[in-house]
Amino acid sequence: MSTIEKAMQARGKAAAGGETPGSEAPLPPATDASPPARGGAGQSRRVEIDLPLLRRRGFLTPDAGRSRLAEELRQIKRAVLKNAFAEAPLRVPDANLVMVTSALAGEGKSFTAINLAISIAMELDRRVLLVDADVAKPSLHRYLGLAPQKGLIDYLTDPHAELYQFMLKTNIPKLSLLQAGSRHQYASELLGSARMRTLVDELRDRYPDRVVIFDSPPVLLTNESRVLAGLAGQILMVVEADRTLRERVKEALSAIEDDDKIVGLILNKNRRPSGGGYYGGYGYGYGHASDTPSSD
Ligand SMILES: Nc1ncnc2c1ncn2[C@@H]1O[C@H](COP(=O)(O)OP(=O)(O)O)[C@@H](O)[C@H]1O
Ligand SMILES: [Mg+2]
Repeated sequence: MSTIEKAMQARGKAAAGGETPGSEAPLPPATDASPPARGGAGQSRRVEIDLPLLRRRGFLTPDAGRSRLAEELRQIKRAVLKNAFAEAPLRVPDANLVMVTSALAGEGKSFTAINLAISIAMELDRRVLLVDADVAKPSLHRYLGLAPQKGLIDYLTDPHAELYQFMLKTNIPKLSLLQAGSRHQYASELLGSARMRTLVDELRDRYPDRVVIFDSPPVLLTNESRVLAGLAGQILMVVEADRTLRERVKEALSAIEDDDKIVGLILNKNRRPSGGGYYGGYGYGYGHASDTPSSD
Protein backbone atom coordinates (compact mmCIF):
# COMPACT_ATOMS: atom_id res chain seq x y z
CA MET A 1 0.00 0.00 0.00
CA SER A 2 1.38 3.41 -0.88
CA THR A 3 1.80 6.10 1.76
CA ILE A 4 -1.04 8.05 0.16
CA GLU A 5 -3.34 5.05 0.39
CA LYS A 6 -2.37 4.62 4.04
CA ALA A 7 -3.12 8.28 4.63
CA MET A 8 -6.53 7.96 2.99
CA GLN A 9 -7.32 4.82 4.93
CA ALA A 10 -6.38 6.44 8.23
CA ARG A 11 -8.66 9.30 7.32
CA GLY A 12 -11.50 6.90 6.48
CA LYS A 13 -11.15 5.29 9.91
CA ALA A 14 -11.40 8.69 11.54
CA ALA A 15 -14.62 9.39 9.67
CA ALA A 16 -15.96 6.07 10.97
CA GLY A 17 -15.15 7.09 14.54
CA GLY A 18 -11.53 5.91 14.73
CA GLU A 19 -8.46 8.02 15.41
CA THR A 20 -6.41 9.76 12.73
CA PRO A 21 -2.79 9.69 13.79
CA GLY A 22 -1.50 13.21 14.11
CA SER A 23 -4.88 14.89 13.81
CA GLU A 24 -6.38 17.09 16.48
CA ALA A 25 -9.92 17.98 17.50
CA PRO A 26 -12.24 18.05 14.46
CA LEU A 27 -12.47 21.41 12.77
CA PRO A 28 -15.79 22.94 11.79
CA PRO A 29 -16.83 22.69 8.14
CA ALA A 30 -16.13 25.75 6.04
CA THR A 31 -19.50 25.80 4.26
CA ASP A 32 -22.96 26.98 5.17
CA ALA A 33 -25.60 24.29 5.48
CA SER A 34 -27.31 25.96 2.51
CA PRO A 35 -27.93 23.65 -0.47
CA PRO A 36 -25.70 23.88 -3.52
CA ALA A 37 -26.57 26.67 -5.93
CA ARG A 38 -28.03 25.87 -9.34
CA GLY A 39 -25.54 24.34 -11.71
CA GLY A 40 -24.08 22.11 -9.01
CA ALA A 41 -21.61 24.65 -7.60
CA GLY A 42 -22.26 25.19 -3.91
CA GLN A 43 -21.99 28.38 -1.93
CA SER A 44 -18.71 29.11 -0.23
CA ARG A 45 -18.99 30.63 3.20
CA ARG A 46 -18.00 34.22 3.88
CA VAL A 47 -15.73 35.17 6.76
CA GLU A 48 -14.79 38.54 8.22
CA ILE A 49 -11.10 39.29 8.22
CA ASP A 50 -10.31 41.43 11.26
CA LEU A 51 -8.98 44.45 9.37
CA PRO A 52 -8.27 46.61 12.46
CA LEU A 53 -6.23 43.71 13.89
CA LEU A 54 -4.27 43.38 10.63
CA ARG A 55 -3.59 47.11 10.61
CA ARG A 56 -2.40 47.05 14.23
CA ARG A 57 -0.01 44.22 13.39
CA GLY A 58 1.52 46.22 10.59
CA PHE A 59 -0.06 44.39 7.63
CA LEU A 60 -1.33 46.10 4.51
CA THR A 61 -5.05 46.86 4.65
CA PRO A 62 -7.27 48.08 1.81
CA ASP A 63 -7.35 51.62 3.25
CA ALA A 64 -3.55 51.98 3.34
CA GLY A 65 -3.44 54.52 0.47
CA ARG A 66 0.08 55.47 -0.47
CA SER A 67 1.88 54.22 2.61
CA ARG A 68 5.48 53.11 2.27
CA LEU A 69 4.47 49.46 2.75
CA ALA A 70 1.77 49.77 0.09
CA GLU A 71 4.28 51.28 -2.34
CA GLU A 72 6.86 48.57 -1.73
CA LEU A 73 4.26 45.86 -2.16
CA ARG A 74 3.04 47.51 -5.33
CA GLN A 75 6.47 47.01 -6.89
CA ILE A 76 6.50 43.33 -5.96
CA LYS A 77 2.93 42.94 -7.15
CA ARG A 78 3.69 44.52 -10.53
CA ALA A 79 6.46 41.99 -11.17
CA VAL A 80 4.34 39.06 -9.99
CA LEU A 81 1.34 40.06 -12.14
CA LYS A 82 3.49 40.72 -15.18
CA ASN A 83 4.81 37.17 -14.96
CA ALA A 84 1.46 35.66 -14.07
CA PHE A 85 -0.34 37.11 -17.09
CA ALA A 86 2.44 37.37 -19.65
CA GLU A 87 1.45 36.46 -23.20
CA ALA A 88 3.05 33.56 -25.04
CA PRO A 89 5.92 33.04 -25.78
CA LEU A 90 7.03 34.82 -22.58
CA ARG A 91 4.54 33.01 -20.43
CA VAL A 92 5.92 30.45 -17.99
CA PRO A 93 3.57 27.52 -17.28
CA ASP A 94 1.54 27.88 -14.07
CA ALA A 95 2.87 31.40 -13.53
CA ASN A 96 -0.39 32.47 -11.85
CA LEU A 97 0.39 29.93 -9.12
CA VAL A 98 2.73 31.74 -6.75
CA MET A 99 4.51 30.08 -3.88
CA VAL A 100 5.88 32.21 -1.05
CA THR A 101 8.65 30.49 0.85
CA SER A 102 11.98 31.04 2.61
CA ALA A 103 14.91 29.04 3.88
CA LEU A 104 13.94 28.99 7.55
CA ALA A 105 11.08 29.84 9.93
CA GLY A 106 10.09 33.34 11.00
CA GLU A 107 11.47 35.21 7.98
CA GLY A 108 8.14 36.72 6.96
CA LYS A 109 6.57 34.24 4.52
CA SER A 110 3.06 34.51 5.95
CA PHE A 111 3.40 38.28 6.43
CA THR A 112 4.43 38.62 2.79
CA ALA A 113 1.80 36.18 1.45
CA ILE A 114 -1.01 38.10 3.17
CA ASN A 115 0.29 41.51 2.15
CA LEU A 116 0.76 40.47 -1.44
CA ALA A 117 -2.70 38.88 -1.57
CA ILE A 118 -4.32 42.06 -0.23
CA SER A 119 -2.31 44.20 -2.60
CA ILE A 120 -3.43 42.10 -5.61
CA ALA A 121 -7.04 42.07 -4.38
CA MET A 122 -6.98 45.87 -4.69
CA GLU A 123 -6.51 45.58 -8.46
CA LEU A 124 -9.69 46.24 -10.43
CA ASP A 125 -9.42 43.24 -12.69
CA ARG A 126 -7.76 40.56 -10.59
CA ARG A 127 -8.90 38.03 -8.03
CA VAL A 128 -6.70 36.28 -5.57
CA LEU A 129 -6.91 33.06 -3.63
CA LEU A 130 -4.67 32.75 -0.60
CA VAL A 131 -3.92 29.14 0.36
CA ASP A 132 -2.40 28.18 3.70
CA ALA A 133 -0.09 25.44 2.50
CA ASP A 134 2.00 25.53 5.68
CA VAL A 135 -0.04 22.54 6.75
CA ALA A 136 2.13 21.61 9.75
CA LYS A 137 2.13 25.14 11.20
CA PRO A 138 -0.76 27.07 9.69
CA SER A 139 -0.84 30.71 10.72
CA LEU A 140 -2.91 32.66 8.18
CA HIS A 141 -6.14 32.30 10.16
CA ARG A 142 -4.45 33.68 13.29
CA TYR A 143 -3.03 36.69 11.50
CA LEU A 144 -6.40 37.34 9.82
CA GLY A 145 -8.31 37.00 13.11
CA LEU A 146 -10.26 33.90 11.99
CA ALA A 147 -11.08 30.59 13.64
CA PRO A 148 -9.32 27.56 12.14
CA GLN A 149 -11.55 25.65 9.74
CA LYS A 150 -11.42 22.71 7.42
CA GLY A 151 -9.43 23.34 4.30
CA LEU A 152 -6.71 21.99 2.03
CA ILE A 153 -5.92 18.78 3.92
CA ASP A 154 -9.62 17.94 4.37
CA TYR A 155 -10.14 18.35 0.64
CA LEU A 156 -7.15 16.16 -0.16
CA THR A 157 -8.19 13.36 2.19
CA ASP A 158 -11.82 13.14 1.07
CA PRO A 159 -12.17 11.96 -2.51
CA HIS A 160 -15.83 13.06 -2.54
CA ALA A 161 -15.21 16.58 -1.25
CA GLU A 162 -15.84 19.59 -3.50
CA LEU A 163 -13.61 22.60 -3.44
CA TYR A 164 -16.38 25.10 -2.73
CA GLN A 165 -16.96 23.38 0.64
CA PHE A 166 -13.63 24.69 1.87
CA MET A 167 -13.24 27.99 0.04
CA LEU A 168 -13.92 31.07 2.12
CA LYS A 169 -15.01 34.37 0.66
CA THR A 170 -13.89 37.35 2.69
CA ASN A 171 -14.87 40.95 3.40
CA ILE A 172 -12.11 41.96 0.96
CA PRO A 173 -14.24 41.35 -2.15
CA LYS A 174 -11.65 39.88 -4.49
CA LEU A 175 -9.82 37.86 -1.84
CA SER A 176 -10.75 34.23 -1.08
CA LEU A 177 -9.06 31.94 1.36
CA LEU A 178 -8.37 28.22 1.65
CA GLN A 179 -7.21 27.32 5.13
CA ALA A 180 -4.78 24.48 5.85
CA GLY A 181 -7.47 22.47 7.65
CA SER A 182 -6.94 19.37 9.76
CA ARG A 183 -3.49 18.20 10.78
CA HIS A 184 -2.26 15.07 9.07
CA GLN A 185 0.87 13.03 9.55
CA TYR A 186 1.17 12.33 5.83
CA ALA A 187 0.76 15.97 4.84
CA SER A 188 3.82 15.94 2.64
CA GLU A 189 2.57 12.91 0.69
CA LEU A 190 -0.87 14.48 0.39
CA LEU A 191 0.64 17.64 -1.13
CA GLY A 192 2.44 15.42 -3.63
CA SER A 193 -0.67 13.39 -4.49
CA ALA A 194 -2.55 13.22 -7.78
CA ARG A 195 -5.52 14.88 -6.07
CA MET A 196 -3.35 17.88 -5.21
CA ARG A 197 -2.30 18.08 -8.87
CA THR A 198 -5.98 18.04 -9.88
CA LEU A 199 -6.76 20.74 -7.32
CA VAL A 200 -3.92 22.92 -8.53
CA ASP A 201 -5.02 22.50 -12.16
CA GLU A 202 -8.52 23.54 -11.22
CA LEU A 203 -7.27 26.55 -9.26
CA ARG A 204 -5.09 27.57 -12.19
CA ASP A 205 -7.76 27.24 -14.87
CA ARG A 206 -11.07 28.13 -13.26
CA TYR A 207 -10.70 31.90 -13.33
CA PRO A 208 -8.27 33.25 -15.91
CA ASP A 209 -7.90 36.50 -13.92
CA ARG A 210 -6.96 34.82 -10.67
CA VAL A 211 -3.64 34.57 -8.87
CA VAL A 212 -3.23 31.78 -6.32
CA ILE A 213 -0.76 32.47 -3.53
CA PHE A 214 0.51 29.53 -1.48
CA ASP A 215 1.86 30.46 1.93
CA SER A 216 4.39 27.68 2.37
CA PRO A 217 6.64 26.06 4.95
CA PRO A 218 10.39 26.77 5.05
CA VAL A 219 12.39 24.94 2.40
CA LEU A 220 15.23 23.79 4.61
CA LEU A 221 13.09 22.50 7.46
CA THR A 222 10.38 20.54 5.65
CA ASN A 223 9.83 18.41 2.62
CA GLU A 224 6.49 20.02 1.78
CA SER A 225 8.00 23.15 0.26
CA ARG A 226 9.98 21.16 -2.28
CA VAL A 227 6.79 19.36 -3.27
CA LEU A 228 4.88 22.64 -3.58
CA ALA A 229 7.68 24.20 -5.59
CA GLY A 230 7.00 21.57 -8.24
CA LEU A 231 3.42 22.82 -8.57
CA ALA A 232 3.89 26.59 -8.72
CA GLY A 233 5.19 28.57 -11.72
CA GLN A 234 6.49 31.48 -9.63
CA ILE A 235 8.43 31.12 -6.41
CA LEU A 236 9.04 34.07 -4.13
CA MET A 237 11.89 33.44 -1.73
CA VAL A 238 11.71 35.71 1.31
CA VAL A 239 15.10 36.64 2.71
CA GLU A 240 15.24 38.35 6.07
CA ALA A 241 17.66 41.26 5.89
CA ASP A 242 20.61 40.97 8.30
CA ARG A 243 19.53 37.49 9.38
CA THR A 244 19.30 34.90 6.65
CA LEU A 245 22.78 33.63 5.91
CA ARG A 246 23.85 33.61 2.30
CA GLU A 247 24.64 29.88 2.51
CA ARG A 248 21.11 29.11 3.72
CA VAL A 249 19.58 31.10 0.88
CA LYS A 250 21.80 29.33 -1.65
CA GLU A 251 20.86 25.97 -0.19
CA ALA A 252 17.15 26.81 -0.30
CA LEU A 253 17.39 28.08 -3.87
CA SER A 254 19.20 25.00 -5.07
CA ALA A 255 16.61 22.77 -3.38
CA ILE A 256 13.81 24.29 -5.43
CA GLU A 257 15.76 25.26 -8.53
CA ASP A 258 14.09 24.45 -11.80
CA ASP A 259 14.73 26.18 -15.11
CA ASP A 260 11.01 26.30 -15.84
CA LYS A 261 10.22 28.44 -12.80
CA ILE A 262 10.45 32.12 -12.16
CA VAL A 263 12.20 32.70 -8.86
CA GLY A 264 11.99 36.13 -7.22
CA LEU A 265 13.84 37.18 -4.10
CA ILE A 266 12.12 39.39 -1.57
CA LEU A 267 14.28 41.17 0.94
CA ASN A 268 12.18 41.57 4.05
CA LYS A 269 12.61 43.67 7.18
CA ASN A 270 15.10 45.91 5.48
CA ARG A 271 15.56 48.76 7.94
CA ARG A 272 15.65 52.33 6.82
CA PRO A 273 19.12 53.94 6.98
CA SER A 274 17.74 56.53 9.43
CA GLY A 275 17.43 53.70 11.96
CA GLY A 276 13.65 53.97 12.01
CA GLY A 277 11.26 51.02 11.88
CA TYR A 278 11.20 48.74 8.90
CA TYR A 279 7.58 49.27 7.83
CA GLY A 280 7.73 46.25 5.68
CA GLY A 281 11.07 47.36 4.34
CA TYR A 282 10.69 45.28 1.23
CA GLY A 283 13.11 45.09 -1.59
CA TYR A 284 12.55 42.87 -4.55
CA GLY A 285 14.64 41.44 -7.29
CA TYR A 286 15.16 38.41 -9.40
CA GLY A 287 18.23 36.59 -8.49
CA HIS A 288 20.29 33.51 -8.49
CA ALA A 289 22.14 31.91 -5.65
CA SER A 290 25.29 33.78 -6.65
CA ASP A 291 23.84 37.26 -6.08
CA THR A 292 21.51 36.91 -3.14
CA PRO A 293 20.97 40.17 -1.24
CA SER A 294 21.89 38.66 2.10
CA SER A 295 24.42 39.29 4.82
CA ASP A 296 26.86 36.67 6.04
N1 LIG B 1 8.30 43.33 7.12
C1 LIG B 1 7.80 43.09 8.32
N2 LIG B 1 7.40 44.13 9.11
C2 LIG B 1 6.90 43.90 10.33
N3 LIG B 1 6.73 42.68 10.89
C3 LIG B 1 7.09 41.62 10.15
C4 LIG B 1 7.63 41.77 8.84
N4 LIG B 1 7.88 40.53 8.35
C5 LIG B 1 7.52 39.65 9.32
N5 LIG B 1 7.06 40.30 10.40
C6 LIG B 1 6.61 39.68 11.65
O1 LIG B 1 7.57 38.65 11.97
C7 LIG B 1 6.92 37.51 12.53
C8 LIG B 1 7.23 36.27 11.69
O2 LIG B 1 6.66 36.45 10.40
P1 LIG B 1 5.90 35.28 9.63
O3 LIG B 1 5.37 35.88 8.38
O4 LIG B 1 4.95 34.58 10.51
O5 LIG B 1 7.14 34.32 9.31
P2 LIG B 1 7.15 32.91 8.56
O6 LIG B 1 5.82 32.73 7.91
O7 LIG B 1 8.26 33.04 7.58
O8 LIG B 1 7.44 31.89 9.61
C9 LIG B 1 5.43 37.84 12.58
O9 LIG B 1 5.12 38.33 13.85
C10 LIG B 1 5.28 38.92 11.51
O10 LIG B 1 4.18 39.76 11.78
MG1 LIG C 1 4.37 31.26 8.08
